[in-house]
Parts: sequence; C-alpha cells; structure tokens
Amino acid sequence: KKIGVLMGGLSAEREVSLSSGGAVHKALLARGYDAVAIDVDRDLPQVLVREWIDVAFICLHGRYGEDGAVQGVLELMGIPYTGSGVLASALAMNKIFAKQAFAAAGLTITHHRVLVRGETFDPVSAGIDLPVVVKPSQEGSSVGVSIVKKAEELSAALETAFRYDNEILVEKFVKGREIQVGILDDRAMGAIEIVPKKEFYDFEAKYTDGMAEHICPPVLPADLYRKLLAEGEKAHRALGCAGYSRVDFLVTEGGDCFLLEVNTLPGMTALSLLPEIAQKEAGIDFEELVERILVSASL
Ligand code: DAL
Ligand code: MG
Repeated sequence: KKIGVLMGGLSAEREVSLSSGGAVHKALLARGYDAVAIDVDRDLPQVLVREWIDVAFICLHGRYGEDGAVQGVLELMGIPYTGSGVLASALAMNKIFAKQAFAAAGLTITHHRVLVRGETFDPVSAGIDLPVVVKPSQEGSSVGVSIVKKAEELSAALETAFRYDNEILVEKFVKGREIQVGILDDRAMGAIEIVPKKEFYDFEAKYTDGMAEHICPPVLPADLYRKLLAEGEKAHRALGCAGYSRVDFLVTEGGDCFLLEVNTLPGMTALSLLPEIAQKEAGIDFEELVERILVSASL
C-alpha cells in the first residue's frame, strides 16, 4: 500500500508541518512502508490523482489541513486518512465553536468574549478584567496570541489577532500550569507539563530547543492526574474526534482544569509533546506511534 504523507500546506504553521511530516515520513520508511511526502498546495487533488495513494497520513497543522478542508477532499476521493473526520476537525480548529461544545459537555472553560472584525473590547461591559489573553479563533502554535496586562496594550493585541482571523477571542487570563493530555486510540495515554523559560509558551518557545522544560509525567496528586486524563478523553469525545489528539489545559492551584483546546493534528516534530507523552507515559516510541496512527486510518 502506498501512503501519502501530507505536509506543508498553506497555514501560518507551514514550517512546523514540514517538520512533523518529515519526521513521520522518515518513521514510515524506517518501518518498511512505501511512503511518499506530498507538499500540499492548491493543486492537492491533482497530485492525489497523479500519485494514486491508498492512504493519507495527514501532518498538516492549522487551516486547510487541520480544519477538515483536506479531510473533505480525501472523503470525496475515497482515500482513507489518519485522525479525525471533517466535522471534528472543523470544530476543534474553531476555538469559538469548540468552547460551546466543551461547555455543553460540562467541561471547564475560561470566561471569554468573542469579537468580530470592527468590534473592540471593553473590560467593564464584558465583565472580564485584565489581564486577558487575545487570540485568533482559528490558528495554532500560539500564532497571533498576546497576553494583555495594561489597557494601553489592548488595541495592538486585537490588531495582531485580527491579522489572522475575522473572529477573535478575548479570554480571562488564568494563572495555572500548562499541562497537556495525549490521546491515542481514543484513550488518554498520559500527560506532560510545560514550563516555558519565558513568560508564555509562544511560537518561539514551542519550537526552539531549550526554551521550555517538559515534565513527563507531571507532578500532580493522583486524583487530580486521573481527573485530568478523564477530562482529556471527554474533550476528545465532545468534539467527536477520532484516534489521536492532544488536549491542552491550564491547571490552577485549586485543582481546576481549564480546557483550552483539542489539537486534532498535534505536532510530531522532535520537540513535540504527543510523541514525548507516548514514549514516557506509555512506552510507545515514535515509530510505533506513527504506525498505530496509520493503522487506525479510515474513511
Ligand atoms: N499546533 C501545533 C502543531 C500543536 O498543537 O502541536
Ligand atoms: Mg493548537
């Protein structure tokens, strides 16, 4: 069977995707699979016809890849693919709709406001005082995200987020530990804590070696650890995700687990968290992880 590893793409996370895709391609070749790397562009359908692949291993991040668009093309062409389907991918990529689904499932989310282009944010009428986190609705890797502590920083933060999206979120800043849950075959494998060396785990901290410390497994009381894994699985199910994902939380001192988002196509780079959780919490090495994701591919 010929496997196409879809990578690159058109989103702001293109470079990250090339890195994830390169690692996955290499792992598939090492395991003896017939795998080709496909850099996704607007001509993806023609490339898929030409390459005639049997399965697509999707390593795209962000829009037109993680958001259900490419999954829809693959469905139309009858090509099985890894990970979540069209609806779950689209829901997870849109932080606004995802939050509605999380709240309906009884998960804890941050107090927030949605702004559409042209609107401004008034902390008093919104009932959300500073600090806040401003983010575009549909981006990953912290692209376009700012933490705002002073009122005079607000308009620049809104402008930055609106560069990436017509709808943005202003969330109450939650002081907590950044802990993520790794899901494989729809079950939580374990968790990891990220301690960024600078104030927040931004794009640079995510992809520069040494800029964030990873603690896996995280040091947590047993009951809180169990609750976190359970909420991770619940979030994955709430969006109807399939197979694997990485669920991001902020865990407060008081033990509240604020759910930030579900990443349906989490990073698979050398510094990425899902592979580290798989290795340290479940004893699954990178090649095995890639193979497990591959065999769960479906239409
Ligand atoms: N959006 C990046 C790739 C991640 O969640 O890992
Ligand atoms: Mg993300």
